[in-house]
Amino acid sequence: MPKHNKNISQLKLSKDQMQAYGYKIVDAIVEHFETQDTKSPVVTATREEMDNLFLENVPEKGTDAHKVLDFVLEKVLSESNVVSHPKSYSFVPGPSNFISAMADTLATGFNIFSGGWAASPAATELEIVTINWLLKLFKFPNKKGGGIFTSGGSMANLTALVTARRQKCGDDFSKAIIYMSNQTHSSNIKALKTIGFKKEQVRLIPVDSDYKISINKLKNAIARDRIEGLQPLCIIANAGTTNTGTVDQLEDIGKLCKAEDIWFHVDGAYGGAAILSEKGAKLLKGIQKADSLTIDPHKWFFQPYEMGCLLVRNHKWLSNTFSEKPEYLRDIEGNPSEINFYDHGIQLTRRFRALKFYMSIKTFGLSAFREAISYSIDLAEQLEDDLRKSSDWEIISHATLAVINFRYNPIHKSYSEKELDRLNQEISKRIIQCKEALLVTTVLQGKVVLRMCLINPRTTLNDVNETLDMCLKFAKDIEDESIAIA
Ligand SMILES: Cc1ncc(COP(=O)(O)O)c(C=O)c1O
Repeated sequence: MPKHNKNISQLKLSKDQMQAYGYKIVDAIVEHFETQDTKSPVVTATREEMDNLFLENVPEKGTDAHKVLDFVLEKVLSESNVVSHPKSYSFVPGPSNFISAMADTLATGFNIFSGGWAASPAATELEIVTINWLLKLFKFPNKKGGGIFTSGGSMANLTALVTARRQKCGDDFSKAIIYMSNQTHSSNIKALKTIGFKKEQVRLIPVDSDYKISINKLKNAIARDRIEGLQPLCIIANAGTTNTGTVDQLEDIGKLCKAEDIWFHVDGAYGGAAILSEKGAKLLKGIQKADSLTIDPHKWFFQPYEMGCLLVRNHKWLSNTFSEKPEYLRDIEGNPSEINFYDHGIQLTRRFRALKFYMSIKTFGLSAFREAISYSIDLAEQLEDDLRKSSDWEIISHATLAVINFRYNPIHKSYSEKELDRLNQEISKRIIQCKEALLVTTVLQGKVVLRMCLINPRTTLNDVNETLDMCLKFAKDIEDESIAIA
């Protein structure tokens, strides 16, 4: 029997040490929130540079806690893009908020196990309460509906597709087919790969000129598959594509799914939150008919990473899909009203994600979220109006759910498509090199375009105009050098 020996490390600090250490961390986070808008949103570093900074053998002996912390504050946290920066326009930014950051710190500090009722009834109840808020927002059935918080949108989509397959196919999914537009987020394809679907079981349906799935082509694909004896299993519709913010025809797709007995999944990871605004709610009409819906609070619900969410019309679908009854969990089974979220998804041990959502909404009120989201939608529309008036810019996809795509294409010059691609790629490259803004390209209709996702409520029209002025300056430089476009 090993004897307890006081000299054996318990990985502990004294109360004074913990306080000094903890206050320093809180001070650093507060300082970051205070100054983040003035920092550079972009970092670039090579593998070699990072290796030079960090590569070492695992240290057998410890180092002074403050020394390690100072090194991390100085070298680690500074070497990351500031995704909450007002000029961080690319991908889907993460505006975050301080209350949720602190809530996450509490959840980690208390190391809450948010897997089952017995271990953490209050954490579980808060997940039930906040999921119910979301069910109501999206007009999902309140009593029957259910959901679960996940690490992000990718995991929510994965959870949805496993659930859809279990409900519709049971164990044999060899003939099952999944449909989605070619603008659907890659996490859905990844999820299908993960759960063993073959490429031949996925139909990527072309979009119309407005980037919405072509309903005719979708119907034709379903009909063809039925004739071939295949099983149309699920349509994944978009409530805000990542590229253009486009919302597929949710009402039509909902009806089609009902008529064809097909699972209706909606990926609203980035766009779903827009239900809180008047314009968004109009665009998202029909979302309430989904069998499953992915939303991603670490995007437009302003939560820090990681937090995704899956909502379903019937909570039993989740427990039917994921419930396992190992003997070592039998004593904490509880009664059916006491939900064990480990039975509703993939993870057993789960962090207490509901806390940040709960605390931030309680603190700011939902109206603050509504205002922030409406502001961003209006900002993108205002930008579109301004760009249309300019002779330098061409709108490629109009402002939708705070996303807009455009390119430098001055009226008085007649560049070829190839030259325009090179020009816009080079503009983005130089913007990133100067680290003033994060503005990357995407490709739409074969054209290289600049894409802005303006979901940060601290981004102003002035910020955007400063970035566009810089883009124009770089465009002129490139034209003068005339190397990049030659
Ligand atoms: C529409 C859509 N779906 C899914 C995802 C994946 O979400 P996550 O990055 O949280 O896993 C994203 C991410 O940008 C997205 O925009």
